[in-house]
Amino acid sequence: MIEILTDEELIKMQKAGRLVALVLKELAKAAKPGVSTLELDLLSQKIIREAGGTAPCIGYGEPPFPAAICTSVNEVVVHGIPSDSEILKEGDIVTCDVVAELDGFMGDAARTFEIGKVSEEKHLLIARTKECFFKGLEKAVEGNRIGDISYTVQQHAESFGYGVVRELTGHGIGREMHQDPEVPNYGKPGRGARIKKGMAFCIEPMITMGNRNVTLGYDGWRVETLDGSPAAHYENTVIITDQGPVMTTFEEDI
Ligand code: MF3
Ligand code: CO
Repeated sequence: MIEILTDEELIKMQKAGRLVALVLKELAKAAKPGVSTLELDLLSQKIIREAGGTAPCIGYGEPPFPAAICTSVNEVVVHGIPSDSEILKEGDIVTCDVVAELDGFMGDAARTFEIGKVSEEKHLLIARTKECFFKGLEKAVEGNRIGDISYTVQQHAESFGYGVVRELTGHGIGREMHQDPEVPNYGKPGRGARIKKGMAFCIEPMITMGNRNVTLGYDGWRVETLDGSPAAHYENTVIITDQGPVMTTFEEDI
């Protein structure tokens, strides 16, 4: 069932989203060579706690996810587990995926950061993954269907010869982090649920430089490319209003 949120609830979504954006802004500054991915997690936990929020990723799923954020380095697409033995180095790319709950509502967003100077091809992968999100976002208007977003994201990514990961999708969000509808990054226009005012969902292209196939790591969480090629991810929580889509988590300077 797709939940339709009241105006009051949408304001709470915006507050949760602002907290997620704040965390990502601080992570963008902190993600430097020599820093461990665990340090990024602890920083995120501190910011979320000080704002009076909680981190719903902690203990989520099976096996229980052990951290507040996902940190996915290079060939890891999503759901990397932060670790003190994983030290970021020049040339790496790391996706930080942050979920925070505030006053009963959730925000969820991800950015792929460059560590020091990265290769031109990694830089382009990140920039074009972000473009995929914004092309998809244009279709997130009342009366359209979810498939219109999916198709647009897929077309843009594949126009560069990139892979579009299919095993994971965007999702509705509200009181829970994962709700209906699914928002795939591939599909056909005119298919899927109709988009209505009051809906909240995450659009989150997960794009690979090589083949689109992925595999699950031994820790039961990490999703990595089968061919070892790097991957990028870009996500915002979006609410649908009369005036079109509003990104609760967007910050121009993240
Ligand atoms: N933003 C991630 C997602 O939508 C959140 C993962 S938290 C975890 O899948 F606990 F599932 F890792
Ligand atoms: Co998400």
